[in-house]
Amino acid sequence: MKIAVGSDHGGFEYKEKILKFLKDNGYDAEDFGAYSKDSCDYPDVAKKVAQSIQNKECERGILICGTGIGMSIAANKFKGIRAALCGDTFSAHATREHNDSNILCLGERVIGDMLALDIVDVWLKTDFSGDSRHQRRIDKLEDV
Ligand code: RB5
Repeated sequence: MKIAVGSDHGGFEYKEKILKFLKDNGYDAEDFGAYSKDSCDYPDVAKKVAQSIQNKECERGILICGTGIGMSIAANKFKGIRAALCGDTFSAHATREHNDSNILCLGERVIGDMLALDIVDVWLKTDFSGDSRHQRRIDKLEDV
């Protein structure tokens, strides 16, 4: 599974840690920036990661900013993207099973780095349940 990873300056340190975690755990990952802590605009990075999923270059994505909120708002503008901002492992598990989320958003200024890596681990390992009620609800997201 290829994972697209991106951040702004507010999520840069966690992006670096997550890329190392992915490499150490055998995931194929692509770094969509930011490439330094210089100030940049989160919608630009969210767009690159979202489009890499839309065009099937990557299967899933992880976006980090200061709060995770800007990244989740930006990513959810793109058709077919279901971005979930998670601050706990229960939500990370549930959003994969119920929402089939394809982007995980994290807030570097909100949660600790070890929790962030646990959330990434759970989110990547959890499959969509495939239940018809969940699929029906996901289908309705594309109706709007
Ligand atoms: C950057 O200062 C900060 O606004 C950004 O990382 C993010 O939290 C936006 O939602």
